[in-house]
Amino acid sequence: MQCKSTCDQGESISKPEVFEKMNYFCGMKRRPCFTLLFFCAILIICCKQELKKTEPVVYEEDPHSFSKPSITNVNHLDLNLKVNFETRNMEGIACYDLGQNQGNELILDNMGLNIQDIQIIQDGNTSTASFQIEPKDSILGAAIKIELKPSTQKVCIHYSTGNYSKALQWLPKEQTRSKEYPFLFTQSQSIFARSWIPCPDGPGMRFTYHAKVQVPKGMMAVMSASNVQQKNKDGIYEFNMELPIPAYLLALAVGDFSFKKIGERTGVYAEPELLDQAAVEFTDLERMLTTAENLYGPYPWNRYDVIVLPSSFPFGGMENPRMTFLTPSVIVGDKSLTSLLAHELAHSWSGNLVTNASWNDFWLNEGFTTYFESRIMESLYGKEYADMLSILGLQDLKKTMDEMGPDNPLTKLKLDLKNRDPEDAMSDIAYEKGKALLRFLEERFGRQQFDAFLKTYFEHFKFKSNTSEGFFQFVEQQLIKDQPGLTDTVKQWIFNTGWIAYKPGYDDLKFKQIDSELASFLKHSNFDSLKTAKWSTHEWIYFIRSLPMDKNTERCKSLDARYYLYARNAEIQCAWFEYAIKNNYGLQLFIPINHFLMKTGRRKYLLPIYKAMKENQMEQAALSIFDMAKAGYHPIALESVQELLQGKN
Ligand code: BES
Ligand code: ZN
Repeated sequence: MQCKSTCDQGESISKPEVFEKMNYFCGMKRRPCFTLLFFCAILIICCKQELKKTEPVVYEEDPHSFSKPSITNVNHLDLNLKVNFETRNMEGIACYDLGQNQGNELILDNMGLNIQDIQIIQDGNTSTASFQIEPKDSILGAAIKIELKPSTQKVCIHYSTGNYSKALQWLPKEQTRSKEYPFLFTQSQSIFARSWIPCPDGPGMRFTYHAKVQVPKGMMAVMSASNVQQKNKDGIYEFNMELPIPAYLLALAVGDFSFKKIGERTGVYAEPELLDQAAVEFTDLERMLTTAENLYGPYPWNRYDVIVLPSSFPFGGMENPRMTFLTPSVIVGDKSLTSLLAHELAHSWSGNLVTNASWNDFWLNEGFTTYFESRIMESLYGKEYADMLSILGLQDLKKTMDEMGPDNPLTKLKLDLKNRDPEDAMSDIAYEKGKALLRFLEERFGRQQFDAFLKTYFEHFKFKSNTSEGFFQFVEQQLIKDQPGLTDTVKQWIFNTGWIAYKPGYDDLKFKQIDSELASFLKHSNFDSLKTAKWSTHEWIYFIRSLPMDKNTERCKSLDARYYLYARNAEIQCAWFEYAIKNNYGLQLFIPINHFLMKTGRRKYLLPIYKAMKENQMEQAALSIFDMAKAGYHPIALESVQELLQGKN
């Protein structure tokens, strides 16, 4: 990250002592005597109990949901669905138990659903409800307004999914490994739960759920809930999520997959051909879970399983509670991409337990998680390794900042996405600037104090959502009250554009080594300068990013001949293809690039490659590959690539 000359190197602060910690919880003066200690302990218990009292939920304004929970909210969803691969739709009933706010209408989000009829239940009597579907908004879909009678208890919506649902990918059996059964998976974040379930679809509204899902016989189904580990003969699966979650965490996958245990509370689901490989790659999953717990408190969701989806899954991972969805591109044989697991696991606290109130506060999910991920990686694999990943993250951030420009409002942590697509929030700003703020606070206050703060934060906001303002207030009260000079700095981090002068103290020894090897290689064109034998994926990425942008196709050719960069794992391939295309070497790599774009649907890989092609005289090639590949992309990836290549529809 480019830093202004006033770079803050972080002050060294003496480790806070037990007494200081007590002072900061209870607001008392430091007096090391036992009576006071006892008194303080009682006060701590009181403080904690105070935090635990159930307060009424405060609903923040959400620019991406039509629901009005302050008028009528829901507590619980009972979902009954039949999955039909022939007609590529789901049909069923979504019944909601209403919460304590009960007005005369319930408003649910909907995107392209066919609503057959709606019934309300009141004192045991069922009657047909009047409802209206509002005019469609191009980003948000169309609200369903349902009239309620006084003291309505339940609302049941009979519906089916439309022929284009942004959340759903229906894969024909040819696009799976076994080629025997088709596959279906959902992707609800950020506002696409409404395209497969009518629901209050904002991250600030939580409900529990039970689901009964019927799938073709011989197939398996999992959800973001309690799951079975074996196929059912009749194809009927039941799920319970008894802890309240927001709609973007509703998830379903249906296919031919099996389960393998990893640890006591962890396991993996994957197509049988991939299962053993996946279990080996994820060997450390249980250790990750206990490491995370040691950092920020008990894992609140019971089990933690993951499912490996087909390669068209548009993300690296999605933190669906109890069942993280993963790209198969993370299975590379040497465990070098498992920080993704640490990331999705960390969301169990930051995101799933304490949730951003609206997508304006997306960094509260992703910035916290990226910080937490790094802490898990450091605990498990050491500072040197974790810092390598952090430095690459800072490089991503610098690239994004440079592209966006330092005055771009999207470089703020707190965003204003009213009338904008929430997709606009999904940049490295939320992930890496958010992480950097937490790193900054950690360096200022010391790990011990900062970790205690984070633990209190998760405890205080658990099963609630939070805004950036709420975070700021909490930091002010709990952490920076003794360093008031920091108040403005923290405000700037959250509410200002661009980068705030600060250079994290990462260990960059490994990358310095690569710098000098590369300098020597460039000077003498001698491959012996490059000691690549022990390089992990991260060293390769750093190396490729450090190559000069001088359109030296001969060098590209010799690097490929020596290291087969075009045939490495997807992370390296993606970086290499982007570099190659920008340096006039794209045409020579046309066949592997074509193959890559046909095979993977992960948006993070697709966009930079298509973009580089578009901007470097390969636009026609990009369009024709896209034309062939798009049938295999998930709607989320498809629309993003389409927008990049052909503009917004
Ligand atoms: N929750 C996100 C994925 C996401 C973000 C989906 C926004 C839809 C909208 C997930 O936790 C994530 O961040 N995935 C990253 C991996 C991570 C290691 C940076 C991804 O998919 O690349
Ligand atoms: Zn994430």
